[in-house]
Amino acid sequence: MTLPVHPSPAIFLPENAPFTPEQRSWLNGFFAGLIALDGAAALPLPNVVVGEQDDGEAPWHDQAIALPERMKLADGRPLRRRMMAAMAQQDCGQCGYNCSDYADVLFAKKETRLNLCVPGGKETSRMLKTLYEELDSEPPVIVLPPIGKTPDTAAAEPRVTRDRPAEAVFLSRKRMNKPGSEKETWHFEFDLTGTGLSYEVGDSFGLFVRNDPVLVAQIIAVLGVAPDFPIGASSLHDALLHSVSLNPAPDALFQLISYLTGGERRQKAKALAAGDDPDKDAASLDVLAALEKFPGCKPDPEAFIEALEPLQPRLYSISSSPKIDAARLALTVDAVRYRVAKRERLGVASTFLASRAKPGDRIPAYVQKAHGFALPADPSVPIIMIGPGTGIAPFRAFLQERMATRAPGRNWLFFGHQRSAYDFFYEEELTAMKTAKVLTRLALAWSRDSDHKIYVQDRMREVGRDLWEWLADGAHVYVCGDAKRMAKDVERALVDVTAQFGARSTDDAIAFVAGLKRCGRYQTDVY
Ligand SMILES: Cc1cc2nc3c(=O)[nH]c(=O)nc-3n(C[C@H](O)[C@H](O)[C@H](O)COP(=O)(O)OP(=O)(O)OC[C@H]3O[C@@H](n4cnc5c(N)ncnc54)[C@H](O)[C@@H]3O)c2cc1C
Ligand SMILES: NC(=O)c1ccc[n+]([C@@H]2O[C@H](COP(=O)([O-])OP(=O)(O)OC[C@H]3O[C@@H](n4cnc5c(N)ncnc54)[C@H](OP(=O)(O)O)[C@@H]3O)[C@@H](O)[C@H]2O)c1
Repeated sequence: MTLPVHPSPAIFLPENAPFTPEQRSWLNGFFAGLIALDGAAALPLPNVVVGEQDDGEAPWHDQAIALPERMKLADGRPLRRRMMAAMAQQDCGQCGYNCSDYADVLFAKKETRLNLCVPGGKETSRMLKTLYEELDSEPPVIVLPPIGKTPDTAAAEPRVTRDRPAEAVFLSRKRMNKPGSEKETWHFEFDLTGTGLSYEVGDSFGLFVRNDPVLVAQIIAVLGVAPDFPIGASSLHDALLHSVSLNPAPDALFQLISYLTGGERRQKAKALAAGDDPDKDAASLDVLAALEKFPGCKPDPEAFIEALEPLQPRLYSISSSPKIDAARLALTVDAVRYRVAKRERLGVASTFLASRAKPGDRIPAYVQKAHGFALPADPSVPIIMIGPGTGIAPFRAFLQERMATRAPGRNWLFFGHQRSAYDFFYEEELTAMKTAKVLTRLALAWSRDSDHKIYVQDRMREVGRDLWEWLADGAHVYVCGDAKRMAKDVERALVDVTAQFGARSTDDAIAFVAGLKRCGRYQTDVY
């Protein structure tokens, strides 16, 4: 049966339907297309989701909640909301989206890669795989932007993105710790001239780096093939160096290994592929260790590369202000090096920058815009910045910006690290800013200078009365650095200070801090 074709532009939705003009026009076009199809009446009508069909709340959106608990909180919600709950809830942008948008594009099948959530790792990609299977059993769904929001396509897209990175020039590195420190933290600088890259304080810098060539050579030796073995238009060596992640070993690699072996070894490989941990060593199995665990298994190089996951960019909080020099960008990075048995393991991006990149190297990069991590619009608003370790990065940028713009607002920095003699990052700059009265107050917490630990939150409690006064004056609070422990402890300290000096019950103090978050006066950049 052929249905009558409506004259163009077809009108299917009345003017008073609850859609924006863009949504109405898009839907009218969509329905016109459907009806014009021969046999269209037999097609299942798509679900049209405007914004969120559930209550819009995301109680799982807290990186401190473990995945099983997050999935419980999302139980009974629409599939795309459960997909969001599977993400690590950091909104870090490493996948190229925030958690909610990544779920939405998977749901809309505009994105098919289920392994992009770096902080969620294998746990997230396994859960997404399970959820993705539900998609095929659902009728097609169109996700429209919530009413009042302009469609994505209308937004001006930056020229340089994660998918279209520019080449920033690596300029220099400087070790931040003095000899004797247990840490290895670096200040790196990049030249952005001619890249089209621009940034604001609070943004992060995304970098695509190369794997360690020594590790690549070790893997090729275990595979027992020539480094120039062709992989598409590339070679095994180049694919391992540029394209795939070598840590951790993915489920698909264990699956591949299970096809190449038998008996107990096959059962172990299958168990590892299913996320079990038969020998209690799964957490330490990178790609090389996985191959070494099953000696003699020599996967076909092409199948091997296919089983590995893409090498993802790494994000770093920018530690400079473009108001000082728009073509220069600085980072403050802790080098990840640790030992498992006899082999030293290297964090791919941090040690690439710390040891392998050479001044003049061009590194694919993009700027990840901050989601809700920015200086107050009103320059006279006081700010409290809490950033131990590399957490100082965006606050150096904030201070530079407030100095360059002569912002009249007061600035208070809580910095901490292991030892005052070795780990006082940017000491001279901070001292100069204090002398210049840009940095109104500087509170320092050295965790290993005495026989008991002193952390930034201890300093916050010591000066709780002043802290409360700043809050009462409308100060914005910022926290940057370790997500797992520090960020939670700092929030607890703020609740305690609020309860004690704001004369509130603990419940009221918790609600007060939650209110600060809601109105953008408590912002975090934690990882
Ligand atoms: C928004 C954002 C901003 C960030 N800003 C900064 C910043 O300013 N400065 C900064 O230094 N980092 C920052 N990070 C972290 C950074 O992105 C990288 O995660 C970090 O540098 C590690 O990357 P890598 O490639 O060197 O290590 P990877 O190759 O990713 O290895 C890290 C992994 O190694 C494992 N690992 C690490 N240490 C150990 C250990 N001791 N024992 C066993 N396993 C271990 C863990 O599984 C860890 O996930 C930020 C992250 C985000 C999301
Ligand atoms: N994803 C990654 O692979 C990766 C890479 C780099 C860093 N990180 C994370 O980022 C964090 C930042 O590392 P960093 O080098 O900047 O420094 P850091 O390890 O966070 O240490 C900075 C200071 O914070 C102290 N600290 C420890 N626990 C704390 C707590 N609960 N509350 C407040 N302070 C606490 C440390 O003290 P003590 O150490 O003396 O206890 C130290 O003085 C690391 O903790 C790590 O988890 C992750």
